[in-house]
Amino acid sequence: MQTVSKSAKTGRNAPCPCGSGRKFKKCCLRKNKININKSATLPNRINNVPIKTSEEISGIRRAGELVIRTLDLVESHLRPGMVTNEINTLVHDYTIKNNAVPAPLNYRGFPKSVCVSINEVICHGIPGNRRLQDGDIVNVDVTPILSGYYADASKTYFIGTPSDEARKIVDVSKECLKRALTMVKPGNTTGDIGWIIQDYAEAQGCSVVREFVGHGVGVDFHEAPQIPHFGKRGEGVELVPGMVFTVEPMINLGNRQLKILADNWTAVTKDGSLSAQFEQTILVTETGYESLTPYEL
Ligand code: MF3
Ligand code: CO
Ligand code: CO
Repeated sequence: MQTVSKSAKTGRNAPCPCGSGRKFKKCCLRKNKININKSATLPNRINNVPIKTSEEISGIRRAGELVIRTLDLVESHLRPGMVTNEINTLVHDYTIKNNAVPAPLNYRGFPKSVCVSINEVICHGIPGNRRLQDGDIVNVDVTPILSGYYADASKTYFIGTPSDEARKIVDVSKECLKRALTMVKPGNTTGDIGWIIQDYAEAQGCSVVREFVGHGVGVDFHEAPQIPHFGKRGEGVELVPGMVFTVEPMINLGNRQLKILADNWTAVTKDGSLSAQFEQTILVTETGYESLTPYEL
């Protein structure tokens, strides 16, 4: 159980940082005093961002283990000539077999159980009849709901032999996530995460997609805070132990402009250039972070 260790710096008459809409002095300022004396739990939101309980964290970690097993299963089946619908069937059936529910299915009208995004597709590719070809890159983005808890992760894979361009965009996007995770620790901000991603990607001559961001996750699919993959140091929301969110930079080989196809989901690069993405679900700990969907970067 977490205990209150510091009092907030919020003014007595300012809106309470827990997001209740009440004045701080009428809300958590009073609770903090009571909490400190009684060693009670933290408010479950700070600056309107959910702070997960240890029970919730255990649930998200278990969902995360299922995500990783699902990605590994998909990877073992990937081959030139495979249609993306087969990936959907693999993910759907494996999720159900593990007593979980695929979160994408019927989410805001999304028609399938997994996002599969090939080459110039940035994200939200809908599985269908497109065939994987030698030299393609393909992102597979998996989100099960297990015992009510969500975990969200993706990887970009090579199909057959990659071109130099394919290697470059996959390497850069993977390194963006790796560097971003070094910024996840209490006291840093969401802006620090965005800054390090943008700084590296642009130095490599690549660009960062701005229309889609990382997000709080765990009890719901998309929660506060938003995690932009661009920005300035020190901006945004301060990171606090118990926050759980994704980091999922989408990096383009050309410029950052995108368009959405007529299916109202598929986001593609406007210039047709390659785009790649790696995503993990990250817990802020007292000393840094723990990935709840861990894989090597
Ligand atoms: N998994 C995606 C993300 O990283 C969200 C997909 S929404 C869907 O946030 F409806 F397309 F599945
Ligand atoms: Co996500
Ligand atoms: Co995702």
